[in-house]
Amino acid sequence: MVLKNAFFIVGVLLISSCTEGEISTVKEDSTNVEVDGRLLYMNQCISCHGPKGDLGNSGSKDLTKSKLDEAAVLKVIKKGKGTMPPFEYLLTTEKEREAVVQYVMSLRKEEK
Ligand code: HEC
Repeated sequence: MVLKNAFFIVGVLLISSCTEGEISTVKEDSTNVEVDGRLLYMNQCISCHGPKGDLGNSGSKDLTKSKLDEAAVLKVIKKGKGTMPPFEYLLTTEKEREAVVQYVMSLRKEEK
């Protein structure tokens, strides 16, 4: 009987620790800027770069293989590059641009 109780307690602890972990992961995803960045990317960037960043339409660079750091990516987004138009008039806040930068960086990590 004592043993049964012990198992029960361990079980409850396991279950509660698992759910806690899951909940915090979900929270991070939905409140993180990455979600905004993804949406902005889907609206502004996929026509040339594609959903995964590797489409290469209009001679665009493969974002999954880009070696640019965050500052350089931000500059390309703001000012454009070659045939890529500048986006500082469409992504008007620093927060939006930063979110897109983060999403562009995440395209790279997923590909590895
Ligand atoms: C009209 C097509 C077009 C759209 C829309 C577009 N791009 Fe580009 N992008 C390009 C082209 C073309 C290049 C290559 C420029 C060059 O190197 O001459 C490029 C290059 C880049 C680079 C540099 C990659 C490297 O390693 O040199 C980044 C970063 C980038 N784009 C991000 C974005 C983001 C983020 C968006 C959306 C806000 C976006 N692009 C929208 C066409 C586009």
